[in-house]
Amino acid sequence: MLLLDGKKLADELKAEIKTEVDKIIQSGKRAPHLAAILVGNDGGSLTYVGHKVKACEQVGFKSTLLQFDDSITEEFLLNEVSKLNANTEIDGFIVQLPLPKHINADNIIMAIDPQKDVDGFHPVNVGKVTLGMNAYISATPLGITKILERYNISTEGKHCVVIGRSNIVGRPMSILMSGQSKTGNCTVTVCHSKTKNLKEITLQADIIIAALGKPGFLTGEMVKEGAVVIDVGTTRVNDATAKAGWRLKGDVLFDEVSPKCSAITPVPGGVGPMTVVSLLLNTLKSAKG
Ligand code: GUN
Repeated sequence: MLLLDGKKLADELKAEIKTEVDKIIQSGKRAPHLAAILVGNDGGSLTYVGHKVKACEQVGFKSTLLQFDDSITEEFLLNEVSKLNANTEIDGFIVQLPLPKHINADNIIMAIDPQKDVDGFHPVNVGKVTLGMNAYISATPLGITKILERYNISTEGKHCVVIGRSNIVGRPMSILMSGQSKTGNCTVTVCHSKTKNLKEITLQADIIIAALGKPGFLTGEMVKEGAVVIDVGTTRVNDATAKAGWRLKGDVLFDEVSPKCSAITPVPGGVGPMTVVSLLLNTLKSAKG
């Protein structure tokens, strides 16, 4: 079983990005600049945005964090988005999700300039990616394709089962895996909460991408011998023995599934670090124009 080490790969990619940033600065241009909007105090969101800001520092990007109370109005947030759209010192920005219930996330995403939408959430980017055109691919799916690419995992003609149909992971991932690319050309099945006989389907999979947010959902009996398993789950589960009082748990029951796999991503240290580095790659892409 090959452990797909997302942390190591992310460190390698960050070193490559840093080299590019050094070149940009040597040529007399300013450093790439990523901004993030964070609304409210959700623990997970605070951690994720913290990782993104830290990663910017590591590669020599400038970063700006705009933090607002969860009582702000949708109108206020739309105004902040238009200020970032107009700010020529900023190459790309993200609005961390989820947003408070009284703010319509679709309205916010639609207001982001697609050219600065380094999360790849705007319909223009989603549409372009669907059509195989050059665009920002959202960070988690991009990170997964980088893992497949760097570990030379062949995907052509394979049956890929994606569990989960979220806009952020499952849906774009299913499109990329069936696309005409080096890490695509799969036959893809998308499963979700209404899927019947899920185990029958996952047992046919050469590649399983678990992105449903249910800790330990994918068990050993659901996986074929030799499958490649990508675990996108990052749920905080209470654990008194952990320093923080919780531990990150993936959607895959690692101890049962890993002995059957030809390759598998761990949690933590698999997809998570690759998501952050993919956001940097998209910001670099924007900075280079
Ligand atoms: N919430 C969970 N994942 C993401 C992400 O990749 N980007 C943003 N903006 N919010 C998220």
